[in-house]
Amino acid sequence: MARLEGYRAVVTGAGSGIGRAVVARFLTEGAKVVAVVRKTADAESLSAMGAVAVIGDVSQYDTAERAVAAATETFGGLDVYVANAGLWDFHRRMEKQSPEELARGFDEVFGVNVLGALYGARAAVEALRASGGSVIVTGSNACVLGGGGGVLYTASKFALRGLVMQLAKELAPQVRVNGVAPGATNTSLSGPLALGQAGKELNADADRMAVMQQHMLLGRVSEPEDHTALYVLLASRTESPYVTGAMLMSDGGLTISI
Ligand SMILES: NC(=O)c1ccc[n+]([C@@H]2O[C@H](COP(=O)([O-])OP(=O)(O)OC[C@H]3O[C@@H](n4cnc5c(N)ncnc54)[C@H](O)[C@@H]3O)[C@@H](O)[C@H]2O)c1
Repeated sequence: MARLEGYRAVVTGAGSGIGRAVVARFLTEGAKVVAVVRKTADAESLSAMGAVAVIGDVSQYDTAERAVAAATETFGGLDVYVANAGLWDFHRRMEKQSPEELARGFDEVFGVNVLGALYGARAAVEALRASGGSVIVTGSNACVLGGGGGVLYTASKFALRGLVMQLAKELAPQVRVNGVAPGATNTSLSGPLALGQAGKELNADADRMAVMQQHMLLGRVSEPEDHTALYVLLASRTESPYVTGAMLMSDGGLTISI
């Protein structure tokens, strides 16, 4: 039986990787989905999958506002806001960045990874209160460990974990706030323009993927689909009614093995 029948969701970073897999899984589970993407081509393919596409930059508040409006106007409400869009920093060390790069990189990485999620929660809170819904963010092993990125990425994902904990307190009891924390995943995760990493893609570097694989207790780098059941679990008010403020690890044992 479909586990999200009647649910209405927004998913950001839906054009690729984990976000796209979450959209596909939510649709299979019976949910109606607004997919937030950056490119027209992604909007077209997400529409073909059955989602309502919204194009925008999550570091701008109006993107979250338009996504929530699309859900409430098209579906009549909102049950879950998945703040998944993210930028990595390819392990760029602090001393490899000029103070100016640090400042611009900080604004860009935190603007997407942290402010994007905060804007999503802010724009969605009224609709989520009305439905008794929830916010789900995509964290990372870098929410709890050093070494999953460079200083900007790790700081941003720790901040995202703080955001989950604080918003869980502020929005209880009507709205639950949780996260899924993937470990190394086979995606084209990219980086900030400020660090010259906008065209770089995580899974284009076979050597890096091989090193990541060595750290995974389960012996392989994950695929986006490996994580999607946890998003369904957290979205479902019947399956996880008592879970809030949690960051569910989906990291192949990485965080307990290093
Ligand atoms: N791939 C991994 O190894 C890994 C590990 C842990 C956590 N994560 C997290 O998973 C999430 C999804 O990343 P992914 O691995 O699927 O990579 P991905 O690049 O396929 O997905 C990230 C998405 O975010 C979108 N995005 C980036 N900046 C944006 C902006 N300003 N506005 C709107 N959208 C924007 C991109 O277009 C892309 O579709 C991220 O939050 C990432 O930090 C990934």
